[in-house]
Amino acid sequence: MERIVTSEIMSEDMVDENIRPQSLDEYVGQREVKENIRIFIEAAKMRDEPLDHVLLYGPPGLGKTTLAHIIANELGTSLKTSSGPAIEKSGDLAAVLSNLEPGDVLFIDEIHRMPKFIEEILYPAMEDFELDIVVGTDSSSRSIKIDLPPFTLVGATTRAGDISSPLRDRFGIIAKLNYYSEEELFGIIKRTSKVLGMPITDDAAHILAKRSRRTPRIANRLFKRVRDFALVIGNGEIDATITEEALTRLKVDEYGLDQIDKEYLTALIMKFNGGPVGVETMASAIGEEVSTLEDVVEPYLMQEGFLKRTPRGRVATEKAYEHLHIASEDRLF
Ligand SMILES: Nc1ncnc2c1ncn2[C@@H]1O[C@H](COP(=O)(O)OP(=O)(O)OP(=O)(O)O)[C@@H](O)[C@H]1O
Ligand SMILES: [Mg+2]
Repeated sequence: MERIVTSEIMSEDMVDENIRPQSLDEYVGQREVKENIRIFIEAAKMRDEPLDHVLLYGPPGLGKTTLAHIIANELGTSLKTSSGPAIEKSGDLAAVLSNLEPGDVLFIDEIHRMPKFIEEILYPAMEDFELDIVVGTDSSSRSIKIDLPPFTLVGATTRAGDISSPLRDRFGIIAKLNYYSEEELFGIIKRTSKVLGMPITDDAAHILAKRSRRTPRIANRLFKRVRDFALVIGNGEIDATITEEALTRLKVDEYGLDQIDKEYLTALIMKFNGGPVGVETMASAIGEEVSTLEDVVEPYLMQEGFLKRTPRGRVATEKAYEHLHIASEDRLF
């Protein structure tokens, strides 16, 4: 099932380039991360050195890729992009690295998915701007060193726990992106409305902000869907009434929970008496991938206090029972 509130990227988000903020000033929220990065960029410029390598981590859709672009913009350099899964052979990494210009930002998305032996080639590149590669076949193979231009690696991951510690230790700046506040999402929605030239009332923007799972990608996506409803069944104006109507039709509730979240919580409560239960069991109970549950569904349910992760498994909270209107007498045991 296509999920309107998934925080993972969907094909329709691809046309978002014009609503992506281009500078730190336009980047809403994440105050601490933003202010630190601003200082490090300033200092790097003053010393005329490349910025230290940056590792950005946090749930999907919170602005890691956006921030990587902004870092390159603010440094006044260009950004070259690759990703963990795209780098399969040492030659792939060598090609990416030897393509860099001095001061460039190399963005490696999903960096936790890079094979271990590739990581090891990356270490001297990060530390000494040196590429050590083995050329030739077995009998005649030799190792050669190639000097690289100074560059900044920006790595992004949704799974900080999957990054090996030797790799993590080579990043001078490690920044965690957090879920956004309603006020910040309100600001993002207002900004998107301005960029797209589609006014939205403050009331409507507050409703959207509340139901966007604290995630800018979802806020922008819901904004565009609500805009469609306003055009087709409303009078073109995005107000509170049309926004409520659209969100009801899209089955997004007042907490931003959708069918999958509800199926998850209902299964946890009704089939497993509220837990504790393992994530694999949950995944097969509702027919979803373990990775979808771990990366997308559970982080938000935990953030909002519907779910707790314990060493023995997932546990539904009282808030989950209340939200689903399940009284204790309906429980299994
Ligand atoms: N701080 C922000 N201010 C305004 N808009 C933002 C901000 N962060 C993200 N966005 C918007 O949200 C969209 C998604 O952000 P982005 O693609 O950077 O997320 P991501 O963290 O890289 O996600 P993924 O983990 O899926 O790669 C962007 O297109 C951008 O328009
Ligand atoms: Mg991204």
